[in-house]
Amino acid sequence: MEHKKFYITTPIYYPSAQLHIGHTYCTVATDAMARYKRLTGCDVMFLTGTDEHGQKIEDKAREAGVTPQQFVDGIVAGEHGVLDLWKLMNISNDRFIRTTDDYHEAAIQRIFKRMYDNGDIYKSKYVGKYCKPCESFWTENQLVDGKCPDCGRAVEDAEEEAYFFRASKYAGRVRDLLTGTDFLQPASRVNEMVNNFIDCEGGLQDLCVSRTSFRWGVPVDFDPKHVVYVWLDALFNYMTALGFENDRYDDLDRYWPADVHFVGKEIVRFHAIYWPAFLMSLGLPLPKHVYGHGWLNFNGEKMSKSRGNVVDPYILAGRYGVDALRFFLLRTFPFGSDGNFSNELLINTINVDLANDLGNLVSRTTAMIEKYFGGTLPKCIAPEAVDDELKAMAQSLRARYEAQMEKYQFQNALDEIFKLIARANKYIDETAPWLLAKDEAKRERLAAVMYNLLETVRICAVLLTPFMPESCEAIFARIGADANGRTWDSAAVWGALGDNTVVHKGEAIFPRIDAEAELAALAALQEAQRKAAQTPEIELEPFAEEAVDFDTFCKSDFRAVKVKACEAVKKSAKLLRFTLDDGSGTDRQILSGIHAWYEPEQLVGKTLLAIVNLPPRKMMGLESCGMLISAVHRENGEEKLHLLMLDDAIPAGAKME
Ligand code: ME8
Repeated sequence: MEHKKFYITTPIYYPSAQLHIGHTYCTVATDAMARYKRLTGCDVMFLTGTDEHGQKIEDKAREAGVTPQQFVDGIVAGEHGVLDLWKLMNISNDRFIRTTDDYHEAAIQRIFKRMYDNGDIYKSKYVGKYCKPCESFWTENQLVDGKCPDCGRAVEDAEEEAYFFRASKYAGRVRDLLTGTDFLQPASRVNEMVNNFIDCEGGLQDLCVSRTSFRWGVPVDFDPKHVVYVWLDALFNYMTALGFENDRYDDLDRYWPADVHFVGKEIVRFHAIYWPAFLMSLGLPLPKHVYGHGWLNFNGEKMSKSRGNVVDPYILAGRYGVDALRFFLLRTFPFGSDGNFSNELLINTINVDLANDLGNLVSRTTAMIEKYFGGTLPKCIAPEAVDDELKAMAQSLRARYEAQMEKYQFQNALDEIFKLIARANKYIDETAPWLLAKDEAKRERLAAVMYNLLETVRICAVLLTPFMPESCEAIFARIGADANGRTWDSAAVWGALGDNTVVHKGEAIFPRIDAEAELAALAALQEAQRKAAQTPEIELEPFAEEAVDFDTFCKSDFRAVKVKACEAVKKSAKLLRFTLDDGSGTDRQILSGIHAWYEPEQLVGKTLLAIVNLPPRKMMGLESCGMLISAVHRENGEEKLHLLMLDDAIPAGAKME
């Protein structure tokens, strides 16, 4: 038998912040495609991963006060990280690549060297404009209104010694690939690529593929002051993850070339121009397709952390279920175009399609079989003309669905299924089983009607499985479909359910959502998120006008102190009593009115700063010998206080000078 393989990838995402619904959209689409191909019997390889190098990550890690590796580890493998998110969303990837994996880094060094050795990478000097957030270099005439053409943000002048990839050499072949084949889809994206990057003034420019201005990347091994440009590093993930230039994996022959790379429209340029050119340089087969999908906006605006309008998949999946969210994403937005996410749309889709149409079809059918046949349905063939249209639609559904899935038109594929679901709901009204049930002579006909409904549900559930794997399992269990009734083949066959199928109604698979209450709850959550994203308004104490003379200042004796014990002072709302090691050998007691900001147990063991030569003061009958030093400010009108905490390496009693 012919070996049918299918290799599909998502972009490898930047772990510079938590992923949001946009990333989830692309990964869910890729997952649905991978599951569909597995269902049809293909040997599937589904790859996703993270793109962990680059200046942006280096900067973010510095801001967070951790190493770049610690930073990306947190976002990839930490709580609510990338791995957790894909697990939650029931993503069935076969492999996960991180560009910081050793085997990938070593492979990138070899790849860079191969292209250097064959003359396609050469050393020169870069003079131009650089967009830091996009990690992209631009020439003056590529800028739009002086700004980055990809993201519209400001660019900086940049000049550095760098290695270049001879992209210009491949301009003709890449143009032929784009204009003469169906490599780039949807076809509507082709002209933009060719006009803006190949047939533009100056033609396709050579690409700067190394950096010396930061360190967080794969070093060029023969010239280590350079690190490899993130896009060269990232694009080759699609091959290193199969074992290209490494021996960690060994299935390049089995899966390469990729059947399709799913990518967002903003990175089509890298995938449709430079990626094929790199592969041409190495004489490697090209991926069959690149599909540039559209963006999800939120209430008409681009999602961004700073706007505080990033939609969190954890919240939505937690409230409405993973399958409902997966379904919504692929049912609502045409994959090739931009879509506008809104809470109303989400809730409405769940209520109309899942709770009403599909959910009701399943629950009405199973409830009637329980009621009229005690849950065990005999297989009766008592056809009537009214059945014909339903049966014909059901039998031909798979072909129509397949045609759409092969074009990655998930919305249309689902539309075909939901047309059949609507037809089946209408069939219930047309056949009025509750009337048939009143007439003992029509029992066979009643059973036939029920069987037709069950078969329709079964076929729909088989084809819905790539979109909602768990819910379809639940449907199969309710309608008594065994393994034979769940296969791709069985989806084109009418009559796969046997005699005496055991059915049970169970709980609603897709409960109806109280739209008003949920919209209010989501709006409140999003408002809180927006507030949290706003930069807080900071107010500082006025600076002192009066000078302090140096001698007076020098008399103040500031010492590092270690908290041995700390407790709340009884009957005081504010005071904490500290027992401190000040290095003198005798414990020091200080009282401090900071209970509003700290609980005592948070402070034990900490190294703090105290002034120790103030005259002792009595507070609530207890003596305080000195004062702990804190930093104070107001934030959004609220008073904030932070004790000054010192490095624990500083010994108790060390004097501050
Ligand atoms: O570009 N709507 O990573 P990235 C739809 N590391 N899709 C969205 C989206 C939105 N609002 N936001 C993000 C990178 N995406 C590179 C890729 S590949 C060799 C390197 C999806 O974290 C969409 O698929 O910025 C987009 O292309 C991808 O996430 C970008 O992820």
